Amino acid sequence: MTSPAEFHGWLGHDNKAAQGNLIWSSFKPKSFNPIDVDIKILACGICGSDIHTLRSGWGATHYPACVGHEIVGHVVRVGDKVTNIKLGDRVGVGAQAFSCLRNDCEECSNGLEQHCTKMVGTYNAKYPDGSWSMGGYADYIRVPAHFAIKIPASLKSEDAAPMMCGGITVFAPLRNNGAGPGKKVGIVGLGGLGHFGIIFAKALGCEKVVAISRRRNKVEDAKAMGATDYIATSEDDKWARKHARSLDLIISTVSSPDMPLESYLRLLRTNGTFIQVGAPEDKLPPIAAFGLIGKGCKIGGSQIGSPKDIEYMLHFAAEKGVKPWVQQRSMKEANKCVVDMEDGHARYRYVLVNPDHEGRAKI
Ligand SMILES: NC(=O)c1ccc[n+]([C@@H]2O[C@H](COP(=O)([O-])OP(=O)(O)OC[C@H]3O[C@@H](n4cnc5c(N)ncnc54)[C@H](OP(=O)(O)O)[C@@H]3O)[C@@H](O)[C@H]2O)c1
Ligand SMILES: [Zn+2]
Ligand SMILES: [Zn+2]
Repeated sequence: MTSPAEFHGWLGHDNKAAQGNLIWSSFKPKSFNPIDVDIKILACGICGSDIHTLRSGWGATHYPACVGHEIVGHVVRVGDKVTNIKLGDRVGVGAQAFSCLRNDCEECSNGLEQHCTKMVGTYNAKYPDGSWSMGGYADYIRVPAHFAIKIPASLKSEDAAPMMCGGITVFAPLRNNGAGPGKKVGIVGLGGLGHFGIIFAKALGCEKVVAISRRRNKVEDAKAMGATDYIATSEDDKWARKHARSLDLIISTVSSPDMPLESYLRLLRTNGTFIQVGAPEDKLPPIAAFGLIGKGCKIGGSQIGSPKDIEYMLHFAAEKGVKPWVQQRSMKEANKCVVDMEDGHARYRYVLVNPDHEGRAKI
């Protein structure tokens, strides 16, 4: 078992890449360091961030870019200094590939690697040696082993893959903000992240789990995932007034700046918390201070989760039998899949699979 000198992946070459213009090509991975592992990719989810990046929505992307940061595969090469991972392990990699890990780093030394100022994303980001990170719409990936997490045996690769970014991005703020028995939680946006929000809020035992979507077309799905209530912001009459002061915590996964933020805040109870995890390409709408002052509410944000958080989530998911709604697609179909995702067709996460990698890479 080993990895080739060159990897292959779907490369985006300009800001039209998400419109079906990815090209399958070879690329040279970063140089192999003793802390690195090579992973033969079995599955990679399609995250909303892949599309923001492919179209340079958050600022100029460094092309050619290989996106994808919801990766599961088998380890085929292990650096001499790696202690947490063995050859043949099935591991997952999320949106982060590197941080400084120094004892004098406030973030890394406190288990907050995802906020380290030296954080390197799994794609479109520069490692300290100047090489660019390349993601998981590919056959292999090379990453520092600290950011490769073992997958519990009972989780299927295609289910675990989207947990590595989509899952942890909602699980971490739910857990950090007290979601559990007796709590009333709302999840805004029923896409990949949002559907994980409903499923995890339910698995955490929340008293009330409210799906907040624009339209009513996902109501049956949301209830099947565990939602106790449903609000359709573009279709329900006077929803903000009807449901005012009903929620302790709201997690917003909305990916567009075009959102009724003040109305979402009306849904909070006194001392309620609103956490934005969706990352629109433009500023959030302005809000009146009284929306916060009047009820002592807090607005915050949250970014993915640390390797320890991811490990905890994976074991929680295995123990509770958490089952995301994924649609498996062949890696060959990446172009079509990205277009379908952008058109809002995913129910609720597309996962690209390299079927010929299953089995062969296992020891
Ligand atoms: N904070 C982090 O660490 C982190 C990590 C991963 C992803 N993200 C970000 O989270 C966001 C969601 O990612 P995702 O993978 O869940 O994407 P997604 O599957 O496309 O879901 C986004 C959802 O936002 C809702 N939405 C509301 N207004 C919209 C509009 N005008 N246009 C499109 N959608 C709208 C839609 O839900 P309804 O149809 O139900 O209204 C849609 O399903 C992205 O911005 C992504 O970059 C952040
Ligand atoms: Zn992501
Ligand atoms: Zn650090």
